[in-house]
Amino acid sequence: MSAGGVTDTLLAEGLARIAEEIDDTFDALLPVPGDARAKLVEAMRYAAIGGGKRLRPLLLTCVADMYGVQREAAVRAGVAIEAIHVYSLIHDDLPCMDNDAMRHGKPTLHLAYDEATAVLAGDSLHAFAFEVLGDPATSADPFTRIELVQALGQASGAQGMAGGQMMDLVAETSEFDLQTVTRLQQLKTGALLGAAVEMGAILGRVAPEGRTHLRGYARDIGLAFQITDDLIDHEGDAEVAGKAVGKDARAGKQTFVSLLGAERAREQARMLVEQAVEHLAQHGREADLLRAVARYIVERDH
Ligand code: IPE
Ligand code: IPE
Ligand code: MG
Ligand code: MG
Ligand code: MG
Repeated sequence: MSAGGVTDTLLAEGLARIAEEIDDTFDALLPVPGDARAKLVEAMRYAAIGGGKRLRPLLLTCVADMYGVQREAAVRAGVAIEAIHVYSLIHDDLPCMDNDAMRHGKPTLHLAYDEATAVLAGDSLHAFAFEVLGDPATSADPFTRIELVQALGQASGAQGMAGGQMMDLVAETSEFDLQTVTRLQQLKTGALLGAAVEMGAILGRVAPEGRTHLRGYARDIGLAFQITDDLIDHEGDAEVAGKAVGKDARAGKQTFVSLLGAERAREQARMLVEQAVEHLAQHGREADLLRAVARYIVERDH
């Protein structure tokens, strides 16, 4: 098999493995209660199980594996970050935000259920994430648990994802320059991707000064990821993407694609991925999956 073939297999196996682990863990941790809350938990399960690419848990477990972390602990932390991601998508799709009808190839949660249930399912997944991280089953060490909570909290709120979402909404009616759009993207999507890498390192008890190269990697793939999301919106296929496309232009949103044009945006994304891989130069074969994930981030079509 060619080197490319080996890497493709590694990536395909990595994606399939984490998808199954995340589904199984959500399934185990979200039993449907036998009372009037059943609708809420069913809605959480509808959004969380069998969903997306599981990129954040994949990144987290890749880093954790490099440092010999017990797989179950890493998967639990992966479920926590995925719960935040899923909640962010539920709210992102609401009529008051992007007003989208399709996610992961099926009706968005507020259409499958109703808006109030979608808001509550998002709220509950948000809380669930921190409950999972605070559980000793994620780490027996309370300092590690607190560090995980802090990293995910910072990446989720006004200094991270939610802050980026606010800027993204403002971008519909303002003229942002490239620097501001970069900042927006770093918060909107870069922060959670960065937290995934950071949380893997926290579980692996990598000292903060030993995380610099991982943070460099995460910063570069974070931007490359969002450029690709914008390219998929610009020229992708809704059927393949599992969500509507062409929305950014319709909403008048400033993105890398609107500012640079598709060709330069694509070049920029590829350059960022090469740079991300260079940050891993000190690692051997144990970082091959992380290298493959970086390439997948820009080559994906969904
Ligand atoms: C999509 O993220 C939304 C953004 C953060 C731009 P993903 O591409 O990671 O979503 P999944 O794979 O459908 O969950
Ligand atoms: C959503 O960004 C980002 C978050 C939910 C934090 P987008 O609005 O670009 O995501 P899609 O294109 O709907 O998946
Ligand atoms: Mg949005
Ligand atoms: Mg959206
Ligand atoms: Mg998008």
